[in-house]
Amino acid sequence: MKRIVNEMKLRLPARSQNESVCRSAISAFCSELDPTVEELGDIRLAVSEAVTNAIVHAYRELPMGEVGYVYISARLYDTREVSVEISDNGCGIENVDEAMKPAFTTGSSDRCGMGFLVMENFTDQLTVRSKVGRGTTVLMRKFLKP
Ligand SMILES: Nc1ncnc2c1ncn2[C@@H]1O[C@H](COP(=O)(O)OP(=O)(O)OP(=O)(O)O)[C@@H](O)[C@H]1O
Ligand SMILES: [Mg+2]
Repeated sequence: MKRIVNEMKLRLPARSQNESVCRSAISAFCSELDPTVEELGDIRLAVSEAVTNAIVHAYRELPMGEVGYVYISARLYDTREVSVEISDNGCGIENVDEAMKPAFTTGSSDRCGMGFLVMENFTDQLTVRSKVGRGTTVLMRKFLKP
């Protein structure tokens, strides 16, 4: 049975300034397991994509002046596993399979629809759950080298 070494929960307003806050927080949190520079870079990148999605897409229908939140919950296990869950209470995704396809985007022309692909390629396990009108949860796991 794997055991939890440490856990963290964060709730941040969905503002673009908080992308870097999340990256820094997850780096500091994982450092206890002494990840390689590459492993840490992978985690930072994947978390960053999920958080950016919550900030950019989840609350796009929110009336001006109202603020949504991004929730980050992370755990370290004694098996050198890192799990990170990023969730929002936003608009949700109508078709998750389609949204996860490379180059699919509902965003503006500066989006390339590569976020999910990056999350998939830089973690060991990715699960996306979403309900229209309720929100989205992205769970990722990374198994660090012994
Ligand atoms: N948290 C979310 N809430 C609502 N919709 C989302 C969320 N995350 C992703 N999506 C939907 O899934 C699509 C694909 O996401 P993905 O991250 O792969 O690409 P992108 O964000 O559009 O572009 P990029 O990440 O390359 O800038 C988005 O365009 C959006 O429609
Ligand atoms: Mg994205």
